[in-house]
Amino acid sequence: MSDSASLPRIPLAGVIGHPVAHSKSPELFRHWLETYGIAGQYVPLHVHPDTLAEALATLPKLGFVGANVTIPHKLRAMELADIVTDRATLIGAANTLIFRDDGKIHADNTDGYGFIENLRRNAPDWDPAAASAVVLGAGGAARAVIAALLEAGTPHILLSNRTRTKAEALARDFGKKIEVVEWVQAPAVLGDGALVVNTTSLGMAGKPPLRINLENLHADQLVTDLVYNPLRTDLLAAAASKGCRTVDGLGMLLYQAVPGFERWFGRRPDVTDATRDAVLS
Ligand code: ATR
Repeated sequence: MSDSASLPRIPLAGVIGHPVAHSKSPELFRHWLETYGIAGQYVPLHVHPDTLAEALATLPKLGFVGANVTIPHKLRAMELADIVTDRATLIGAANTLIFRDDGKIHADNTDGYGFIENLRRNAPDWDPAAASAVVLGAGGAARAVIAALLEAGTPHILLSNRTRTKAEALARDFGKKIEVVEWVQAPAVLGDGALVVNTTSLGMAGKPPLRINLENLHADQLVTDLVYNPLRTDLLAAAASKGCRTVDGLGMLLYQAVPGFERWFGRRPDVTDATRDAVLS
């Protein structure tokens, strides 16, 4: 009879959400585990907000080395962590937790990394430090995008949101490089950035379309949409028809998972066409 206690421990990780069934992360991580022949497991963890603290205290004892965190736990998970990176603090949300050997929980936010890496890989000529960006939306995703752009050296960001006060709050948090533009004025400034980003949920399947006039887009712009369902949003289709370079939002989802996978399973994974197929199937 084999002594099961002497078998090597298989690292476990998962995604914590409420709900969690919609998450693409299990398919993504299983694809990478299989691709690299790693004996690890990654599972969806449906955790009610009332039991998040208990879950975070228990998971490491069960062999979990970390977790991704999704809606609605991103703020609370950060508050429950022992160590929080500066960028997670600035964004006000954590999406990646590391359960350290010393029992401490380390919280980071990799959404901004995912955003920039997706653009760098798919539009290698784009230099974030060279020119302004136009950002539509001022929710949680916009905070991650803006933090990442500023860190990458973007000199000026035109920020427009339906609810102006939310854009102003964001501008207060991030400083003078953010210029708030009225939502009705967004079409007028769309041509004023080397990069245009939609961080709103408009255009997502089941949500209203992004109904703004796109005629000021021009061919030397890079346009990206955080919405990835559908992959080719109306914004990206319109931008492409104007000759703009376009990058869809799926890559952000894939690249934001890279640091967690590397940390938990010991190998930096590649994002390939097969990776995209794995989460789209
Ligand atoms: P996320 O974390 O994905 O950014 P969020 O915090 O709910 O999600 O933010 C959603 C964004 O989409 C916000 O910028 C929101 O604008 P408001 O701040 O005015 O709510 C934007 N949004 C959602 N529905 C919208 C609509 N019908 N018209 C314009 N903007 C909309």
